[in-house]
Amino acid sequence: MDGNGRWATKRFLPRVAGHKQGVDALRSCVQACIDRGIAILTVFAFSSENWNRPVEEVSGLMDLLVLSLSREVPRLKANGVRLHFVGNRQQLSQKVQGSLQQAEAATADNQKLVFNVCFNYGGRWDIAQAAQQLVSSGQVITEAALDRAMALSHVPDPDLLIRTGGELRISNFLLWQAAYSELHFSDKLWPDFDVAALDEAIAVFRSRERRFGQTSAQLNSSGHLHPVKVA
Ligand code: FPP
Repeated sequence: MDGNGRWATKRFLPRVAGHKQGVDALRSCVQACIDRGIAILTVFAFSSENWNRPVEEVSGLMDLLVLSLSREVPRLKANGVRLHFVGNRQQLSQKVQGSLQQAEAATADNQKLVFNVCFNYGGRWDIAQAAQQLVSSGQVITEAALDRAMALSHVPDPDLLIRTGGELRISNFLLWQAAYSELHFSDKLWPDFDVAALDEAIAVFRSRERRFGQTSAQLNSSGHLHPVKVA
């Protein structure tokens, strides 16, 4: 969800105002996913590197997370959304940790949309923590074992990865899981990424041929759509 800061700066507003507007865009996006029957949405809300931002922006984001959850969880609960927070929680304050736990518990029975919020997350952190789990429990490091130890093991790999804000980078998001994701880069700043922009990304995704290492001819004859996972 890149571009909140620029959205605010263009309007002579503090950066946190852009993040607030980002929450509005996120609410619309969640609703659009529900309406379209999308089963899983994963967003990058705070990266391991975002701690390096000015202290008032970091605390503004923490406060916004807690406030947004207290406002939005009842609606998310009513709409069948199950929240998961993905990332290193130990570095978060007790207040933030409590708010994440409450939101997850309140929505734990929901099944319409799995909504993963990556917060204090980094793709490298995830790979390292998964490898450490395997080492600590004496397991052999295989792709399948790592898959099972990853913080996003409760969902399949993403089909479509969207980055807004015009940058052509992954920036430490889903490094392991995005191996076969279709990438979509939008010039729109996140607060401007509306339902029409989401639909455009989905339409482009649908027009792509996903070969997973196979040839076009193989796909057309076998109908295989997924790569063979190596154990
Ligand atoms: C990146 O834009 C965005 C963030 C670091 C924060 C994203 C957070 C939200 C959309 C708020 C909603 C989430 C929760 C759960 C509170 P940027 O600040 O890097 O923008 P810039 O590239 O224009 O500076």
